[in-house]
Amino acid sequence: MAGMPKISFIAEKLPEAGTVVVSVGEGGALGPVAKAIDKASGGAIARAIKVSGFSGKTGKSCEILAPAKGGLERIVLVGISDDDATTSLGLSKLGGRMAAAFGQARDITIVAEGKKEPFDAQMLAAVASGIVLRSYRFDRYKTKGDEDDGGAKKDKAAGVSLLAGKPADARKAWASAEAVTDGAIIARDLVNEPPNVLGPVEFADRCKELEKLGVEVEILTEKEMSKLKMKALLGVNQGSARPPRFVIMRWNGSKAKAKPLAFVGKGVVFDTGGISIKPAGGMEDMKGDMGGAACVTGLMHALAARKARVNAVGVIGLVENMPDGNAQRPGDIVTSMSGQTIEIINTDAEGRLVLADALWYTKEKLDPAFMINLATLTGAILVALGHFHAGIFSNDDELAGWLTEAGLTTGEKVWRLPMGPEYDKLMNSKFADMKNAGGRDAGSITAAQFLKRFVGDVPWVHIDVAGTAMGSPQDDINRSWASGYGVRLLNQLVADHYEG
Ligand code: BES
Ligand code: MN
Ligand code: ZN
Repeated sequence: MAGMPKISFIAEKLPEAGTVVVSVGEGGALGPVAKAIDKASGGAIARAIKVSGFSGKTGKSCEILAPAKGGLERIVLVGISDDDATTSLGLSKLGGRMAAAFGQARDITIVAEGKKEPFDAQMLAAVASGIVLRSYRFDRYKTKGDEDDGGAKKDKAAGVSLLAGKPADARKAWASAEAVTDGAIIARDLVNEPPNVLGPVEFADRCKELEKLGVEVEILTEKEMSKLKMKALLGVNQGSARPPRFVIMRWNGSKAKAKPLAFVGKGVVFDTGGISIKPAGGMEDMKGDMGGAACVTGLMHALAARKARVNAVGVIGLVENMPDGNAQRPGDIVTSMSGQTIEIINTDAEGRLVLADALWYTKEKLDPAFMINLATLTGAILVALGHFHAGIFSNDDELAGWLTEAGLTTGEKVWRLPMGPEYDKLMNSKFADMKNAGGRDAGSITAAQFLKRFVGDVPWVHIDVAGTAMGSPQDDINRSWASGYGVRLLNQLVADHYEG
């Protein structure tokens, strides 16, 4: 996208022009390169730290304009606390805070280093990832610049050079980190895109682009889905003028004949609620009701672009939930692909209907090692956890535990909620095998119980991302409405446990 920074790694040499952004440790401790820059600028850094009381702690920064000696335009000091300098998340956040200081500058040198020694290749890649994630703006539909964002639309990308002890190693580490970063940005773009532009067909076209990376992309049409008897999913799309799509993305990166890791996403390109229509206020946010599918697509990009040594499959159901003369009604009973019947109580509980057939298809046709599904499934998860954790539900303690750890590593945190037969019972129907909506109580759990009826014995986790995929508060590495949540989380899970 226009305006995204161009990252490069260059050998350590003192910058002589432009803007230099320098990491500074706790207590205002300068690293080796920072000390040299201080010297070349006639002691400007040491003086600035002294007069400003800059502590070097995370969240603090200090700007030095046009130092008298050395020819630099600007030196920006960005603090990083000792603890943050030891984790890749802390370093990405440092990168984000560094990017915040770029302003209108288009020629930027980054000095990211520890108090004593330079950051290694992995650490620099984490900083670069934070720079790119923080710089992301969805401004495709703005014809003028954003006042709050420095005025003019930045169509010329900033050139960002990170000084590196071993630039070749840093480039190699960045190739992997960039794959994951780009995956998160793809997910953000898909979620931010307006619903008139991104219907099921257009979404599937975006998936098709992954073929360039060696992903096999299979797209099922309505006719093919009918043949498979996916009537739970198709019922949701019945009121839409646009046809549904079902996409299967395969990445075969493992030499062994391992069962694929399966990632399944809810892709409701717009959720009006259908006949059980939603109130008008805030309904525009329901363009993001494909956040689960967007994450799966971004993850498949990440795995393929970094050539992950795993077999993985991404499966997404793409529909639109609209009211119409042909729309599904409360009271309708549909037969899912599994053969189980579902009484529709509320047409706004549509995501689980899409996932019922997507999970069953994945289990039956793809023989997965596990299934992890992501869905903006319930408003109730926002009530429970707000924007700071996604809710997870699982039939497998080990997988749930690994995911929880990956959440802490990446900052895309999850919190496990309980399941059990007493909740399952709440989904029984008077007329069919089950109903699609329980009562008000435990809304996120009963939704998960519904899904569980379609996963059999396969190890499974459901991630409810209604609170985290979009509308999260802005932070060091995201300023966009769509967060791209889940791509870095699931990539971490794969890297930690399945590539060994
Ligand atoms: N897409 C919504 C859930 C949602 C709400 C996502 C807010 C993001 C932000 C989902 O389809 C839905 O409408 N769920 C209903 C279920 C209810 C009718 C059982 C809900 O949460 O109210
Ligand atoms: Mn809904
Ligand atoms: Zn929905």
